[in-house]
Amino acid sequence: MTFHEEILAGIPARLPEAKPYDTEINHAPKRKDILKPEEKVLALKNALRYFPKELHEALAPEFAAELKEYGRIYMYRYRPSYQMYARPIDEYPARSKQAAAIMAMIQNNLDPRVAQHPHELIIYGGNGAIFQNWAQYRLVMQYLATMTDEQTLVMYSGHPLGLFPSHKDAPRVIVTNGMVIPNYSKPDDWERFNALGVSQYGQMTAGSYMYIGPQGIVHGTTITVMNAARKVLGMRSRVKPGMREEESRNGLLFVTAGLGGMSGAQPKAGNIAGVVSVTAEINPKAAQKRYEQGWVDELHDNLDELLPRIQKAVAAKEVVSLAYVGNVVDLWERLAADHIHVDLGSDQTSLHNPWAGGYYPVGYTLEQSKEMMADDPDAFRMAVQESLRRQVAAINQLAGDGMYFFDYGNAFLLESSRAGADILLPDGRFRYPSYVQDIMGPMYFDYGFGPFRWVCMSEKPSDLAKTDALAVKVLSEMAENSPEEIAGQMRDNIRWIEEAGRNKLVVGSQARILYADCEGRTRIALAFNEAIRKGELEGPVVLGRDHHDVSGTDSPFRETSNIYDGSQFTADMAVQNVIGDGFRGATWVSIHNGGGVGWGEVINGGFGMVIDGSEDSARHIREMLFWDVNNGIARRSWARNGAARFAIEREMARTPGLKVTLPNLADEDLIRKSLN
Ligand SMILES: NC(=O)c1ccc[n+]([C@@H]2O[C@H](COP(=O)([O-])OP(=O)(O)OC[C@H]3O[C@@H](n4cnc5c(N)ncnc54)[C@H](O)[C@@H]3O)[C@@H](O)[C@H]2O)c1
Repeated sequence: MTFHEEILAGIPARLPEAKPYDTEINHAPKRKDILKPEEKVLALKNALRYFPKELHEALAPEFAAELKEYGRIYMYRYRPSYQMYARPIDEYPARSKQAAAIMAMIQNNLDPRVAQHPHELIIYGGNGAIFQNWAQYRLVMQYLATMTDEQTLVMYSGHPLGLFPSHKDAPRVIVTNGMVIPNYSKPDDWERFNALGVSQYGQMTAGSYMYIGPQGIVHGTTITVMNAARKVLGMRSRVKPGMREEESRNGLLFVTAGLGGMSGAQPKAGNIAGVVSVTAEINPKAAQKRYEQGWVDELHDNLDELLPRIQKAVAAKEVVSLAYVGNVVDLWERLAADHIHVDLGSDQTSLHNPWAGGYYPVGYTLEQSKEMMADDPDAFRMAVQESLRRQVAAINQLAGDGMYFFDYGNAFLLESSRAGADILLPDGRFRYPSYVQDIMGPMYFDYGFGPFRWVCMSEKPSDLAKTDALAVKVLSEMAENSPEEIAGQMRDNIRWIEEAGRNKLVVGSQARILYADCEGRTRIALAFNEAIRKGELEGPVVLGRDHHDVSGTDSPFRETSNIYDGSQFTADMAVQNVIGDGFRGATWVSIHNGGGVGWGEVINGGFGMVIDGSEDSARHIREMLFWDVNNGIARRSWARNGAARFAIEREMARTPGLKVTLPNLADEDLIRKSLN
């Protein structure tokens, strides 16, 4: 069958040939055996409903074996036979250009260069799924290939409920992932629902077809590391006349963990920020992948060799990224024992998913951990918690010696506190801030800056270079008149884009990310639309973002951790955001339970928008991006965040029709007196 034929066939009438289990590929760990015998019957019945009855006799034992072997039914046999990668938009069978763009985005997520466990349809974060099984993938591609601009595809946690009539301004796809009744949102509930085949953890850009590989996070990490150095370590004051700012950071030591999907961006960000970075990674396959991609400079598996190497790099102020292929706890304990001065510390293991392969406990090999996780989950849980207590003890010692440690949005502080580690201050707060509290929140989100991204649907590097140039032009024009509060953010982003091509950040589709505010995102998008209209770009462009943003995500330990009016545990903002995007021109919208910090811990939403040079696209850009940013600024302003108040008042002054409720600030002494 050709590529077109295979897509149009959906789930083929005849049984496709079984696919061999590819041992070269990084596979998801075996999930824990959570279903009771009767529930296993249900899981099989659920899986078989995708297939005609005459195939059940062949498929039932095969799916039963997958459930037993892997804890899930992935339907490996139904993996397509064509190569998985984002093709130029014209190569897809489609009646709707918008749907073709979504097909390309889906295939990019599943590209083995991009996805973490591509055969289990896991894109990043250990459990961030795009679909639950290959039948869902095949059906979705068939629906997208046949739908028109007057239909909407409805997605329930990877399952395509079907195509429903709508209209051209409606989203082509609406995605919900992991939406459950709040009382059933514990990690084990996810394990059960996922094993039954009725829900999935979509993370965010995994389940919303918007993942662009580690580039997305390189940018955020670069900004975080640079600003941690500037703000917290006071490096800005060390910039001497004639010195480039990044030189002031040379010789700083940044220690962290994780070379996975997102965390793999840390060494690259360290290099761009100009520091020495050391990243621990327990999985040699993950470390090797990043090394081969040029994202980390050196791999070391022996601490006796690594320690002198670190000291040499720091002394010589080298800009270099070192990886320790081993457990991060061993690294921290050794650094503490040898009293090595560490400037910046963090952790990006997948602690949002601590019991199912997100964090590997010290003292066990990767294989031992995987076995224990499946065969003795209680022992595994205890080993993880002991490991976290040890990790925190070493970090505390180094922090006592002057290290600035920050939580990197992976639930490290939360899980460490649950493990009984020494991570709380006497008043119950965490000892360490999240990077949002100190850096991203007050300097970026409150002003509406967030991770605007785009993907060129021609898949041509030349188109990406043209869009880069347009973005620099727009931001440079804006920077001339920017108020002081946001001038630095503009400069950082201009420099980022100017150097993006040289840093070879593209893995998979021709995508770019930068941080911009509402005005920046809108003006850049309109410039792209105009360039498409004039034929200067060779194809449409998809706009989107991740969850690490001002409005899309309610996450009390991450994106909304700098909300202090008590509303950080509410999720109105994220839900409103997706509803509002849906009727203002998004091509697809998605809302998820669980993002970076774990199932039940966050609600986040996203969008994708295909722009094609038309007047409709220009209208969608203006209407939807405005809401997508200002919803969150308005909420942050209501929570009394000063920068957000500044930003929303500035927006109201220039936008007729925007009227936001502003808070009155009460005198705290008066309140305390009144209460006593
Ligand atoms: N702050 C942010 O902006 C941000 C962005 C993305 C992801 N995150 C969070 O960071 C975490 C990592 O994301 P990811 O996509 O890289 O996940 P991932 O699962 O792909 O990578 C995590 C890596 O950590 C390694 N690891 C686990 N335990 C270890 C240990 N004890 N020692 C050494 N290595 C160990 C794993 O082998 C894995 O490769 C997630 O929790 C995610 O939600 C934060």
